[in-house]
Amino acid sequence: MLPIYFAPLQGYTEDAYRRLHHSNIGGVDAYFTPFVRWEHGGVRSKDMRDIRPEFNSGVPLVPQVIASSAKELQSLLDVLLPLDYKHIDINMGCPFPLQTRHGRGAGILQHPEAVKEICKVIKEHPQIEFSVKTRLGLESNDEWKQILPILNDTPLKFIILHPRIATQQYKGTVDMEAFKEFLNASAHPVIYNGDISSIEDIQNIEKQYNVAGIMIGRGLLARPTLAQEYKTGSTIDYKTLLRTIKDIHSKLLEHYTNIIPNESQQLAKIRTYWDFMEETIGRKQWKKIIKAGNMKNYLIAVNSL
Ligand SMILES: Cc1cc2nc3c(=O)[nH]c(=O)nc-3n(C[C@H](O)[C@H](O)[C@H](O)COP(=O)(O)O)c2cc1C
Repeated sequence: MLPIYFAPLQGYTEDAYRRLHHSNIGGVDAYFTPFVRWEHGGVRSKDMRDIRPEFNSGVPLVPQVIASSAKELQSLLDVLLPLDYKHIDINMGCPFPLQTRHGRGAGILQHPEAVKEICKVIKEHPQIEFSVKTRLGLESNDEWKQILPILNDTPLKFIILHPRIATQQYKGTVDMEAFKEFLNASAHPVIYNGDISSIEDIQNIEKQYNVAGIMIGRGLLARPTLAQEYKTGSTIDYKTLLRTIKDIHSKLLEHYTNIIPNESQQLAKIRTYWDFMEETIGRKQWKKIIKAGNMKNYLIAVNSL
């Protein structure tokens, strides 16, 4: 049985969602936070809230940081280390130009010198376990070849590979040939990430590749019970799935109602809960929920599920 990790998805897998998923469903070995970045001399208070232990009580959590240089990484560690986390993930895969053009995320893959600098900082903190979440490249699927030797020479718990290039973002096919090549060349355990949406998908990866675990993002947002079903070996029926989804929804809505003052903002926030569930609940019901113009119609649509 492979460990299953919940992928970080900015705007989706925030503290409240993670807490509710962990307490109501489980099956996930660790939740990775959306990346925390250094901005205007500090960490945004929203990002701080997301990683503070009091908002993550009892949840196995791996904070993720994104940095373009040793200086940025060290500044982030100065903030994170007092929070006592023992495992920190470094994002070298974010495809968004806002990050990549500053040499962060997948943008660092064309700058081996910056990766070396970052790895030097990792080596200076042997008390912390680090992992790296990355892609095949920014623009071509062999850029990893100049980065992996540097990572191989650095103590890492594992490398999470999403086998796409940044210009694909999250679309197009995953490159399993390149994944295999990366896996063979890596001195570290490798976690597979990308397009996993069923138990069969998990089992296929498990059978075909010598991976140390699987990280799932959109597949878990679409079917929050997926990891739990894989772990217990039994698929749940649609009625139970729907009950679980609606139960988390009502608790999440209660949470947003408490922290967001304005109803239209509450609606904008809670509605994202359904973004990846079109196939799970069916197009017709999904559209009614997504298109509801106010909270009253939204709740009617949700309750009709
Ligand atoms: C809206 C969105 C936000 C994301 N935010 C992050 C992030 O903060 N850090 C990160 O490493 N990956 C981020 N990702 C990438 C996911 O963690 C994951 O690698 C990607 O969705 C592929 O896995 P999946 O097919 O299982 O979803 C994001 C993806 C999406 C779609």
